[in-house]
Amino acid sequence: MERFFNTAGPQTPDSYTIDPLSRFDLEDVLLMIRQQRYFVMHAPRQTGKTSCMLALRDYLNKKGDYIAVYANVEGGQASRNDKETVVKSIIDTLTGAYRLVFKNDKADLARNAVQGLSVDSMLSQYLSLLCQSLEKPLVLIIDEIDALVGDSLVSILRQIRSGYADRPKAFPQTIILCGVRDVRDYRIVLSNQDIVTGGSAFNIKATSLRLGNFSKEEIHELYLQHTQETGQQFDEACFPMVWDATEGQPWLVNALAHDHIIPEMIDKAIENIIYRRDTHINHILKLLNEPNVQKVVLPVYLNQENIDPSISIEDYDNCVENGIINRERGKPLRIANGIYKKLISNLNVDTKTT
Ligand SMILES: Nc1ncnc2c1ncn2[C@@H]1O[C@H](COP(=O)(O)OP(=O)(O)OP(=O)(O)O)[C@@H](O)[C@H]1O
Ligand SMILES: [Mg+2]
Repeated sequence: MERFFNTAGPQTPDSYTIDPLSRFDLEDVLLMIRQQRYFVMHAPRQTGKTSCMLALRDYLNKKGDYIAVYANVEGGQASRNDKETVVKSIIDTLTGAYRLVFKNDKADLARNAVQGLSVDSMLSQYLSLLCQSLEKPLVLIIDEIDALVGDSLVSILRQIRSGYADRPKAFPQTIILCGVRDVRDYRIVLSNQDIVTGGSAFNIKATSLRLGNFSKEEIHELYLQHTQETGQQFDEACFPMVWDATEGQPWLVNALAHDHIIPEMIDKAIENIIYRRDTHINHILKLLNEPNVQKVVLPVYLNQENIDPSISIEDYDNCVENGIINRERGKPLRIANGIYKKLISNLNVDTKTT
């Protein structure tokens, strides 16, 4: 099997890989699962959330104390406030995800049993029936939770809350909600224009974990896998340059290595990445073109410290949670990495003055 630096979606067996289970505190997560906690796992785009969650699912199922199911609910995105369609599509997704791993019809039976129920209790009843039919507690990982919006998201969060007291016999032992933002911080706009926060719809005792970027050691470890496989060395002088360009952002680290860099070519490789406008770059550029992002990012780029009181804290949080700026206690805000700085300097706005 020829291995490669993956730049397209979650890790596969033939991608050079940092063990996904080493990227978060597995012991801590296992403890939270034992304690029947519900929690949020969040990180910016292309950080490795899905790879970590799939690895966690497989780890738990292999260990055998729980039945772990991973479901990506992105499919509900298009239906927006149409909660009936969204709830049904999530139940279908969960059913398919369960069947994929466990090859029996327990989830199908639960789904059939809840058809015709009110949409605001369909998911909670489905989970209740499914959990009661399983011989072990269910750990449910819901990915791309922030693809859902408005009435649909609130209905899902409320239904999760409503069954919480019945865990683990008649509701999941643990539910992990995974996405870019901490769902508890959302301001969710309903179809009647009311605003509720994710935290009030999901007000169960929950924590949130944020998945970080690669360390310098992990970048070495990843690139060394390629050297071991092919004999091709990375000049040591590359590593500080890769660090400045990426600061460990996982997709960027893979994308740079993809171009088989030597120190003299690193600037060219960075240009290539930007020029190609792969998904990750496109996503960051789209954000950088939003006025609410620009008003936060441009002063930080120009080192015009510090927090501008006329800008809302939500706008700062949005930039931090999307990984564009770094906010560390006691330090000035800064742009997350060299490649994002380049993207900002290429923006069609005046980055000299402001
Ligand atoms: N364990 C890992 N080792 C090496 N590279 C990784 C690892 N996990 C993620 N990556 C890099 O990050 C990219 C995105 O991975 P993944 O799809 O798991 O992240 P994600 O945070 O779920 O992304 P998205 O926000 O698009 O859903 C991969 O294509 C790869 O470049
Ligand atoms: Mg993902």
